[in-house]
Amino acid sequence: MKNIPPESFHGLGCGNPVALADLKKGEIVLDLGSGAGVDVFLAANKVGKNGFVIGVDMTEEMVKKSRENAKKYGYKNVEFRLGEIENLPVEDNSVDVIISNCVINLSPNKLQSFREAYRVLKPGGRMMISDLVTEGPVPEKLKENFELWTDCIAGALERKDYINKIKEAGFQDMSVVEESTWRDDKINVAVTSIKIKAVKP
Ligand SMILES: C[S@@+](CC[C@H](N)C(=O)[O-])C[C@H]1O[C@@H](n2cnc3c(N)ncnc32)[C@H](O)[C@@H]1O
Repeated sequence: MKNIPPESFHGLGCGNPVALADLKKGEIVLDLGSGAGVDVFLAANKVGKNGFVIGVDMTEEMVKKSRENAKKYGYKNVEFRLGEIENLPVEDNSVDVIISNCVINLSPNKLQSFREAYRVLKPGGRMMISDLVTEGPVPEKLKENFELWTDCIAGALERKDYINKIKEAGFQDMSVVEESTWRDDKINVAVTSIKIKAVKP
């Protein structure tokens, strides 16, 4: 963390996908919902000058901020693109590794987001996501609670549904690499911070 722009860290994530992604020098990485760029900059330091990291985010302010950080700190191996993860502004079969940190739960169409991730990965490419899932259904009336959306809980899927959508998108060799569960009193359902790895065959 000492070696990335301090302004890129907003404490919005729910894990550290870069630490688990086993990135190699020269790899091309895509971060879904890159925010102010924290994981893009961490990944850029890992893949080195022959690698490249793309961050996609739908919020103009976030893209602007992350571009400013890249310029200010002289990162040449990163690019931030404005776009939605359900319709990625990225070519087919062009990325070695997808990372994402606490974003898919916010997507209104999670299956489409996983399908897009699959489309842009090269065959043999891998995806490492940190996200929140629930261990039971979130009560319907709470799904409209704004605070619970910003807590990344209102839109979270139940674990089995989340995993099924990854498989339905075509991913294989899926594994839960890390997880930790707590009971959220606001929804009275257990919430799990989960790190999932999956591969495009
Ligand atoms: C909880 S923040 C996490 C940001 C970043 N991954 C981090 O760890 O700091 C969620 C980010 O995802 C972006 N986002 C949410 N839904 C999105 C979507 N459907 N397509 C693209 N970006 C999205 C938001 O603009 C926001 O920057």
